[in-house]
Amino acid sequence: MSKRILAYRRLDEQQLEQLRSRYHVDYFGKLSSADDPAFREALAEAHGLIGAGVNITPVLLDAAPKLEAIASISVGVDNYPVDELTRRGILLCNTPDVLTETTADTGFSLIMASARRVVELADFVKRGDWKASIGPEQFGSDVHGKTLGMVGFGRIGQAIARRGALGFGMQVLYSNASPKPEIERELGARRCEFDELLRESDFVCAIVPLTDETRRLIGAREFERMKESAIFINLSRGQVVDEPAMIDALKRGQIRAAGLDVFEKEPLPADSPLPQMANVVALPHIGSATHETRTAMAQRAVDNILLALDGKAPISPVNPEVRNETAT
Ligand code: DGY
Repeated sequence: MSKRILAYRRLDEQQLEQLRSRYHVDYFGKLSSADDPAFREALAEAHGLIGAGVNITPVLLDAAPKLEAIASISVGVDNYPVDELTRRGILLCNTPDVLTETTADTGFSLIMASARRVVELADFVKRGDWKASIGPEQFGSDVHGKTLGMVGFGRIGQAIARRGALGFGMQVLYSNASPKPEIERELGARRCEFDELLRESDFVCAIVPLTDETRRLIGAREFERMKESAIFINLSRGQVVDEPAMIDALKRGQIRAAGLDVFEKEPLPADSPLPQMANVVALPHIGSATHETRTAMAQRAVDNILLALDGKAPISPVNPEVRNETAT
């Protein structure tokens, strides 16, 4: 009996063909809800899942008794109960590396847009309000030569820091569980205590995975420790920040501005004050969203699921201990 793959994120024709040439594929290119009865029916027969954006709960896993492997089209795996998957012997794979540079580009565009008030002033022009030379009330702040504090210093954090240090002459501070001596040498970056980073940085950039340790890592206490001129950037997950505390800090001028790609609830609820705030640049979670990178991520996931269902080592397993393989 041929195995079945359930795909629930858009894949291009060539990628679908690659899957279909090996296995039966149930394809939901635009899944609106994991409660969709057709999705549930396919889940009951699936040996492999490929997709993103669905919270895979133990209840969903109970409805998927044949499941052997999941290939997420994302680097973040906060949508998956990793320990539970391991316990059930289900292999989980993700898509690191292929999105690093694109996501770092997004991070740097948030730094630039927030500091130079790009969105706010472009709207000013669009509204027809540009009637005379702008004055100090519309000036922004410099990016070059400032201090960039990276909360988290994995692949994407390092790629943002590289842009800052080599492109903009920024000093880089980072807080991270483990030291990164190689990139310290490359960029002149310095690892420091979290509180020192908050105190010293002109830009505080969060790029940590969402875990029990990082949930609400940045709240009222942390915003109080930042400079009044600080700009906060969040490129990780909305839950890493206490959102009401951040809104309060922005409203009270405790920090100058924020550039945000992620939010506690996504899409942003209609009653969120964030999009209306002049000192906030809010993006719809576009970290890796370019044609090139989303295609590369989907391809990585296709390769991962085919290798996993063939009983071979996938390129980027998250819980390789399921197969006693070595992590990448
Ligand atoms: C990722 O790959 O984790 C991005 O944040 C998209 O969810």
